[in-house]
Amino acid sequence: MVLVDDHIEHLPNEVRIVEMGPRDGLQNEKQPVPTEVKVELIKRLIIAGEKDIEATAFVSPKWVPQMADHHDMMQAIKPIKEANPDVTFPVLTPNLKGFEGALAGHAEEVAVFAAASEGFSQKNINCSIAESIERFKPVVEAAKKHDIKVRGYVSCVLGCPFDGDIAPGQVAKVAKDLYELGCYEISLGDTIGVGTPAKAKAMIEAVSKVVPVDKLACHFHDTYGQALANLYACLELGVSTIDSSVAGLGGCPYAPGATGNVATEDVVYMLNGLGIKTGIDLDKLIDAGVYISDHLGRKPVSRVANAVLAKRQ
Ligand code: HMG
Ligand code: MG
Repeated sequence: MVLVDDHIEHLPNEVRIVEMGPRDGLQNEKQPVPTEVKVELIKRLIIAGEKDIEATAFVSPKWVPQMADHHDMMQAIKPIKEANPDVTFPVLTPNLKGFEGALAGHAEEVAVFAAASEGFSQKNINCSIAESIERFKPVVEAAKKHDIKVRGYVSCVLGCPFDGDIAPGQVAKVAKDLYELGCYEISLGDTIGVGTPAKAKAMIEAVSKVVPVDKLACHFHDTYGQALANLYACLELGVSTIDSSVAGLGGCPYAPGATGNVATEDVVYMLNGLGIKTGIDLDKLIDAGVYISDHLGRKPVSRVANAVLAKRQ
């Protein structure tokens, strides 16, 4: 029999949260969210103690209109960065054109994004997986020259809306390609939130054979309500970086039916309960979630936020 305390010893002491709200969270909103609101959200996330906040995406405004203010966002972030030098604002850059925009905006970290499935790669970035890796090569080279860190995403690691089931070996192959290209960390996306814990475990086991587990992040969407269970399974395997989105915002324009990332509030509550440090103040985080949810005219999609808000009344 495994004792509970013995079990918990296998979990990390600290987890780094990478906040997705301003980018993944808002990219799918139909009504344009004003730049000032996105910036105010970022300020509130910093007050809550968040240190890694994905700020925007240098993607085509025709493909993702909500991210069309990427240049304005970088301008607005400049003084925030100066006042908070320990906070990092990664931005998405699918190609050299995107990288040039990020560079002009003084980004210190960028992210390239590939997929484990051909169907999603075509729909999301209009090229095959192999072509995407070729496109990322000059981005990583240019980033190195400018001392800019590059993160790599792999989407659809536990299932694809177009291709169905994805073999763990396929995820491992794409993750390895991105790592060998020079990405410092590989974020593994359950883009449509279909995974379950045993599947998530098998995927991490396969990927950690080719990329060290301390270089992996879990980026789970919560469409089927499995994200926390999946994260717990991955924490047990040594993953200690989690992508999440305040108020559970989000969805991907190229993943029909997918809901937001797992809510940061829910992740922090679970980690607090496990005695795992994040440096994030749950109450202030809930306030940030209320701010953006009020703007969007809806309640936060976070069980924890709603439970705490009900108690506050
Ligand atoms: P394309 O049409 O194949 O590109 O799009 P192209 O090189 O043929 O260029 C076509 C037009 O786009 C040209 O403009 C380019 O200048 C412009 P035009 O001459 O027609 O006026 N263009 C750009 N504009 C701005 N920024 C750029 C850029 N590149 C070309 N970087 C492209 C290829 C990748 C650009 C396009 O497919 C695209 O923007 N896709 C966006 C996909 C996206 O943002 N998806 C959501 C984010 S990924 C995600 O959410 C998953 C993740 O969260 C993890 C997970 O959950 O799994 C990360
Ligand atoms: Mg995502």
